[in-house]
Amino acid sequence: MKTYGKEIMLVMLLVFVAGTSWAGQTLTKYGDFEGRTYHADLYKGEKCVACHGSQEPSGLPTDDVCLKCHDLEKLVTSTARPENEKWQNPHNNMHWGKDVPCMECHGEHQEIKPLCQGCHTFKYPKFKN
Ligand code: HEC
Ligand code: HEC
Ligand code: HEC
Ligand code: HEC
Repeated sequence: MKTYGKEIMLVMLLVFVAGTSWAGQTLTKYGDFEGRTYHADLYKGEKCVACHGSQEPSGLPTDDVCLKCHDLEKLVTSTARPENEKWQNPHNNMHWGKDVPCMECHGEHQEIKPLCQGCHTFKYPKFKN
């Protein structure tokens, strides 16, 4: 039966699409705010202070706030690429070297695409949008 075959294909497609969007999905609800699952500990207790320095944030955190906890040299190493792709490393790249404002590529309360993808098609399998 032709239509039956088509339905199976559709189900498989839906499963595939659901699976792929889930894989990169690290946004979750903390109270009435969305934040990252990987930052769950930061949302316990003094929720917003870790990044905003205040419990009632009104704007963006400062540029260097992520570096309080994340070591830039370690990041550079952990996303290093083979020699011929060396400068595709988002944390030490062709255009800006290691001078990389985290929030250009990592959203905390919203999905975001790494800056590089606006112009290039490099693959970043570890990226959590
Ligand atoms: C108070 C400490 C702290 C601050 C501030 C902080 N983080 Fe994190 N972050 C962590 C911890 C702890 C983890 C989970 C362990 C890990 O993966 O290093 C994490 C995980 C992450 C991950 C996921 C790592 C993975 O496994 O893929 C990303 C991306 C990230 N942080 C980006 C940021 C950005 C961008 C900022 C600034 C807006 C930031 N973090 C601020 C502590 C912090
Ligand atoms: C130009 C875009 C860009 C900027 C700027 C940027 N990142 Fe990333 N980050 C990425 C991408 C892309 C990945 C995934 C790399 C991959 O798949 O190889 C990543 C991965 C990570 C990870 C996970 C590393 C791992 O080993 O899985 C952490 C943590 C992280 N970034 C934190 C930061 C912090 C903190 C800053 C600011 C100092 C920052 N990033 C700046 C694009 C960026
Ligand atoms: C891990 C760091 C981190 C934590 C924890 C965090 N934020 Fe944020 N916040 C950010 C970043 C990064 C941005 C920039 C926009 C984005 O990435 O979503 C931001 C932006 C904001 C903005 C400004 C939105 C705008 O467009 O002007 C508000 C308001 C805000 N956060 C509120 C909160 C509240 C409320 C909490 C606690 C429940 C909180 N944040 C916890 C990192 C954090
Ligand atoms: C506004 C567009 C734009 C953005 C955003 C951008 N690039 Fe580029 N990039 C270019 C252009 C234009 C060239 C030069 C093209 C050429 O000569 O091949 C280039 C060349 C490169 C090259 C050398 C050529 C190649 O394809 O290997 C690398 C590596 C590179 N960029 C990495 C990055 C990384 C990593 C990011 C994110 C941090 C990034 N770029 C963001 C426009 C951009």
